[in-house]
Amino acid sequence: MSGFPRQRPRRLRSTPALRRLVAETTLQPRQLVLPLFVADSITEPRPIASMPGVVQHTRESLRRAAADAVAAGVGGLMLFGVPCEADKDATGSVGAHPHGVLNAALRDLAADLGAATVLMADTCLDEFTDHGHCGVLDERGGIDNDATLAEYVRLAVAQAEAGAHVVSPSGMMDGQVAAIRDGLDAAGHHQTVILAYAAKFASAFYGPFRDAVGSSLQGDRRTYQQEPGNVREALREVDLDLDEGADMVMVKPALGYLDVVAAAAARSAVPLAAYQVSGEYAMIAAAAAAGWIERRAAVLESLISIRRAGADLVLSYWATEAARWLV
Ligand code: PBG
Repeated sequence: MSGFPRQRPRRLRSTPALRRLVAETTLQPRQLVLPLFVADSITEPRPIASMPGVVQHTRESLRRAAADAVAAGVGGLMLFGVPCEADKDATGSVGAHPHGVLNAALRDLAADLGAATVLMADTCLDEFTDHGHCGVLDERGGIDNDATLAEYVRLAVAQAEAGAHVVSPSGMMDGQVAAIRDGLDAAGHHQTVILAYAAKFASAFYGPFRDAVGSSLQGDRRTYQQEPGNVREALREVDLDLDEGADMVMVKPALGYLDVVAAAAARSAVPLAAYQVSGEYAMIAAAAAAGWIERRAAVLESLISIRRAGADLVLSYWATEAARWLV
């Protein structure tokens, strides 16, 4: 040994061009999906206090935000509907109504953007029920799994009819993918893609989202969402969704669950999405606003980390902004 090691990994870091040449992980605008909220009966976009920079859109402002995202190269849009309180009921029936805000907005975007993007819709009841749960309740106040499936089928068919290319069941009911596949096929929507929230954990990091959709939830979702410590169970959920015909699967949240993302990526032959959820957004936004963290660098590092773990697609409220940084 001369005292100078032959192995010098730093050589490959010595110029920006070398670092670019040997970068292992890509992050491209097309890999990002922007979640968007559209609310009924508001006349101006309404800021969401716990998600600075994110708003509930009017149908008009949604069209502009969607066009901006597509112009920035974002790969897809995930829509959530926020009905007015008076329209919520025990079964979330307004969700499947063709003139409900989510379906109306899907029609707007399908007309504006056509095949220029991938339109995705959240296929869940929690935004539309007066109790805020993702399913319908039985007489004891528990979640009636199989009665919920029938409602999901109605939602999915309505969303496909309104122009969604992708429906995204996020309620973690058993059998939801199979029921929706059968329902879509029976209605002639053979080409509608199912993005299954396969492994969705009962997470404190959804807090700001519940503000964003004006959730009516009391209590928690622990009888349907998973315990944060369970990875084997998450893989079982992935396997079941694949068996049931999921075209893509998702892990959610992202940053605290990168091991689950990696395990799901190794397991599944279909594209894998990960959702950088509202609380992840809020943490970085708050630290950046306090001057404690460099915003752009932290956002990009979080996104590349999710890609490195194995996600093909990343849902992020920063999708448009990050896409602009990346070009
Ligand atoms: C339920 C749903 C939730 C999110 C997406 N779909 C919330 C929940 O399970 O309570 C959370 C998204 C986020 O936090 O950004 N339909």
